[in-house]
Amino acid sequence: MKIVVLNGSPRPNGNTVHLVKAFVEGAEEKGHEVTVLRVGGMKIAPCLACEYCHTKGNGTCVVRDDMDKVWEALEGAEVVVFASSVHYWGFTGQMQSTIARFYSKNQPEGVKKYALLLSSGSPGVYEGIEAQYREIVGYFGAKSLGILEINGDDADQRAEASLAKARAFGASL
Ligand SMILES: Cc1cc2nc3c(=O)[nH]c(=O)nc-3n(C[C@H](O)[C@H](O)[C@H](O)COP(=O)(O)O)c2cc1C
Repeated sequence: MKIVVLNGSPRPNGNTVHLVKAFVEGAEEKGHEVTVLRVGGMKIAPCLACEYCHTKGNGTCVVRDDMDKVWEALEGAEVVVFASSVHYWGFTGQMQSTIARFYSKNQPEGVKKYALLLSSGSPGVYEGIEAQYREIVGYFGAKSLGILEINGDDADQRAEASLAKARAFGASL
């Protein structure tokens, strides 16, 4: 399967980067083709709710920024993985902006499967994101392939025990 991982962490060498790398190893071992975009470091503005996309724009957003690269990567994708650090019990602002920009086309064409990978300092902080994720997947008429949540300090999350979970998650797809 062609998998696109959207990593919403703003940290270029963050925990999510390490976990995603292990996830990719697992997925590639199973023969999947994986593209990773660290949307957390890209220039992706929030949705303006101007409705240009649903009127004159005919599915194209009025804003020209790195979201164009995301749409390009999503062409032909079957699976999208939302990978994000947890910021105040929610997705990072960068991830949230990326998701909201799906509005122009309502959903990436052909993507029928989603997965969620979260990194946080504390355990038990995922309820809000999980609820949002499940609503999005349901709204898109898609299927969830699973959720992986890793927490602890940087060293804990980069330890082999955590990376092994991420690798196994990638392989489970
Ligand atoms: C602005 C901000 C908000 C955060 N909010 C939470 C939170 O609500 N719950 C939590 O457990 N960790 C929180 N954290 C900690 C991060 O989720 C955690 O360090 C995570 O592993 C960072 O991943 P990253 O290095 O990939 O960005 C927060 C960190 C920042 C910078």
